[in-house]
Amino acid sequence: MTILAIETSCDETSAAVLDVDKTSMRIISNIIASSLSLHAKSGGIIPETAARQQLKYMIPVLKNAMKNVSTKNIDCLAVTVGPGLIGSLLVGVETAKTLAFAWNKPIIGVNHLLGHFYANFIENYQKIELPSIALIVSGGHTDLLLVKSHKNIVFLGGTRDDAAGEAFDKIGRLLNLGYPGGPAIEKEAIKGNSEKFNLPRPMLYSKNVNQKPPSWDFSFSGLKTACLRNIDKLKKEGILEENITNIAASVQEAITDILVIKTLQAAIAFNVKSIIIGGGVCSNQALCKKFVSLIKDRFSFFSPSPKLCTDNAAMIAACAFFQHKPSPWADIKADESLYFK
Ligand code: KG4
Ligand code: ZN
Repeated sequence: MTILAIETSCDETSAAVLDVDKTSMRIISNIIASSLSLHAKSGGIIPETAARQQLKYMIPVLKNAMKNVSTKNIDCLAVTVGPGLIGSLLVGVETAKTLAFAWNKPIIGVNHLLGHFYANFIENYQKIELPSIALIVSGGHTDLLLVKSHKNIVFLGGTRDDAAGEAFDKIGRLLNLGYPGGPAIEKEAIKGNSEKFNLPRPMLYSKNVNQKPPSWDFSFSGLKTACLRNIDKLKKEGILEENITNIAASVQEAITDILVIKTLQAAIAFNVKSIIIGGGVCSNQALCKKFVSLIKDRFSFFSPSPKLCTDNAAMIAACAFFQHKPSPWADIKADESLYFK
């Protein structure tokens, strides 16, 4: 089966062609144009700018993805329908619907967050065993899922305030490291001492399983406030500059502790076979190393390679293959606040 997928949920415009059968997945193309550099100038994403860039890139990206593929070989279309920025989503959704109509092909609407989970199957299709605990950590979401099977995915918990990626981005801004904060903090953290600042790990050991209903929620806003206090104090003392690497290392240590420990608790509680992570924050090497060192050989562990962690259309095609729910094109609608049911 050959799937043409489109992803435009935020500031990346992507189109991919994925060949899938019962044993393997092969990326024929996975073209990504990013408007990140424009947002870096403004210190964050301006939704209207992102949507305008989607319009500019959509057709060239599509053309490039289809360069060596004949339309008659495409079996179906897949498109991210949400969550995301509505102006950005609409560009991809309406493009995919138009193609489905013009080519008379089936179309599948995909939840972007599940796409991050399915990025793992592109590289490790044969090795992944379910049930699994999935951690999705992107710019706007931090979610824990219990994946019993491809058709039975249970939402366990999510962030009550900021997402982990958002915490990286906001703290990066406080440290004047530019946007996005995640990669910038990771770079600084390598040079710093993570024990220099003792930052909180909110909700790390909240009594998840005893709550009714059980809650596996996260919270990152307290960590951001604690950073702000430390940064203000260091500024007053005139020693902020020399401590940027130490704050970055301490923040990264706190965020990765929360993500890894909470995910492990859930994996133990639900007695799963594997832990699978996805989303932009998973390109953080300290996070992956911590998972590997704490999991030991209790669970198998999967994380996409960095280029498949951040937004791309190949992961949307992979998700469409497993979730395979074609709809009439007229029923496919962008839904900026789509979440787990
Ligand atoms: O999944 P993604 O590419 O886009 C969304 O769906 O949101 O995730 C973007 C997020 C941003 O918050 C960014 O700071 C974070 O992923 N990120 C990282 C790293 N690379 C990207 N966070 C920590 N370390 C990184 N190396
Ligand atoms: Zn994403």
